[in-house]
Parts: sequence; structure tokens; C-alpha cells
Amino acid sequence: MRTRALGGAAVPVLGEGTWNMEADRPGDVLAAIRLAIDLGMTHVDTAELYGDGAVESLVGRAIAGRRDSVYLVSKVLPSNASRAGTLAACERSLARLGTDRLDLYLLHWPGRFPLAETVAGMRALVDAGKIRRWGVSNFDVDDLEALAAVTEPGEVACNQVLYHLEERAIEHAVAPWCRAHGIAIVAYSPLGSGSFVAPHSAGGRVLRGIADELGATPEQVALAWLVRDEGFAIPKATAAAHVRANAAAADLELGATHCAAIDRAFPRGRSRALPTL
Ligand SMILES: NC(=O)c1ccc[n+]([C@@H]2O[C@H](COP(=O)([O-])OP(=O)(O)OC[C@H]3O[C@@H](n4cnc5c(N)ncnc54)[C@H](OP(=O)(O)O)[C@@H]3O)[C@@H](O)[C@H]2O)c1
Repeated sequence: MRTRALGGAAVPVLGEGTWNMEADRPGDVLAAIRLAIDLGMTHVDTAELYGDGAVESLVGRAIAGRRDSVYLVSKVLPSNASRAGTLAACERSLARLGTDRLDLYLLHWPGRFPLAETVAGMRALVDAGKIRRWGVSNFDVDDLEALAAVTEPGEVACNQVLYHLEERAIEHAVAPWCRAHGIAIVAYSPLGSGSFVAPHSAGGRVLRGIADELGATPEQVALAWLVRDEGFAIPKATAAAHVRANAAAADLELGATHCAAIDRAFPRGRSRALPTL
């Protein structure tokens, strides 16, 4: 699996999301996460929010005995993100995940606690060896600027944001800001949270044409497009066929003509505030 630098680690460009996995059959979830890891999608993204901790527990079961093969990411809720609250939330996540450290810990979205407090909590966790790096999620440019005022250059590893073919808002300002400041972009909901491009829409036909030419699926083409030049994407897949398809998408090479056709079919639209789920 192709990797890129994320907070100093070599991380697969495609990973495994876990939102809503508590609604799937537990056996299927465990099998999906293990298959993803086996296929090189070792970037496993979870959060204390998901299933109110139930998903972290499932991830913990899935990675038991193979923790060292996983790039493990979780997130603290903004309502917990005081300095002390961040430390306590991380301890709860570690317990559910059955591990002594996270590779990356994210503030899930900007909240009511001053950023300096959350940053102090993150730094204390790094110092204690509980997390290797930390980052943020759902941060628009004004949030990133506020964060830059209380952090060192290079300290924030990533900004995890909504990004897929039909939602390209980050390309206007957030992605350029992150690029200029060495903050990696991690695309969440890269397949539109299950409401993927309608097959008979103009865009759907473009994707189908490229997919047929490359012996791939439209979803694989969409994922390959998202990570073609930079960044990461974390599709959630419980169906084994989806996990396999997503892992293979990392090796799909799109040509300049394909990329231009996709760009025309899915225009980024006007500059707008960062959309979130
Ligand atoms: N930071 C944030 O605020 C935030 C917000 C939302 C999401 N996230 C993260 O991003 C992850 C992904 O986003 P998401 O869960 O919203 O949705 P998504 O990954 O955009 O879409 C997931 C849906 O697509 C299906 N699917 C997966 N691979 C497929 C393939 N190759 N072909 C066809 N269908 C496929 C899945 O089906 P099956 O499951 O049945 O296989 C599921 O129904 C989340 O799980 C979470 O880890 C973060």
C-alpha cells in the first residue's frame, strides 16, 4: 500500500473509517478491520463519539495482538476538550482500544474550551507517551489561524475534513492553508457517507467510463482521485468486498485526461465555509 508522511510516520494513503460500525454485525466489523489491516489499510480511524465508545471497543477487539501493525487514530469530543478533560478522555479511549498509546489524537471539531487548553492537554499526552502526535478535525481557516497562534510550526499533524467528489469546498482555502503550514489533509466521508454519486447522473457516467477503462469501480476511481497528489482518505467499509476494493484503489493510476474529466464533471463550486457533517 502506498504511504505518505503524516506527522513523521509513513501512513497508507487509504485507511479504514469506523463511524456507525456499531450498527453493523460485530463479527463483520471485526473481520473488516482485520482484513483492512491485512491488505495494508493500517490507518484505522475512530472516535470516542462513535457508538458512544462502542466502536472503540470493537476496534480494540479487532486489533488485539496486532497493535504494532496499526496506525491508530481517535478523537476527543469538544465537550471533553479542556486540559484535564482531554487527558481523561484519552485514558478512556485507550482502555476501550486495549492499548497504551494512540498514533494520532484529534480534536473532533472546534468547541467551547479555549484552544490553548486543548493544546496543553495534547502536549501533556505527548509528553506522557500516550499519543505520538495530535491534530484537529473540521477546522476552517479562521479556526486554523487561531490554532496557529497557540502552537509551534509543525506541531499540528493533520486536519481531518469532509472531502469527496461532490463536496470540494476545502480546495478553496482550507487545503491551501494546510499545505502552506505543513498540515496533512485527511478526507473523511470520501464516498459521501453512502450517498455516492448517482450512477445515471452526468458525473456518474464519467466515473463509470473511467472505471470501465481501468477495470475498476466508480468508487475506486473516486478514492484514487482524492489521494492522487497529496493527503489521505478513510472510507468506512464493513462489507469485505468494499474493503478489498478500497485497498486496491490505492494502486489505481489516473492519467491527466481522467483527472481533467473528473474535474469538469464535479466542479468545486464557489468558495464557501467549511461544510461538516
Ligand atoms: N472527523 C469527522 O467529523 C468525521 C465525520 C464523518 C466521518 N469521519 C470518518 O470518516 C470515515 C468515512 O466516512 P463515512 O463513514 O461518513 O462514509 P464513507 O466512507 O464516505 O462511506 C461509507 C459507505 O460507503 C460504503 N462503501 C465503502 N467502500 C465502498 C466501495 N468500495 N464501494 C461501494 N461502497 C462502499 C460503505 O458500505 P459498507 O460499510 O456496507 O461496506 C458505507 O455504506 C468514518 O467512518 C469516520 O471514521 C470523520
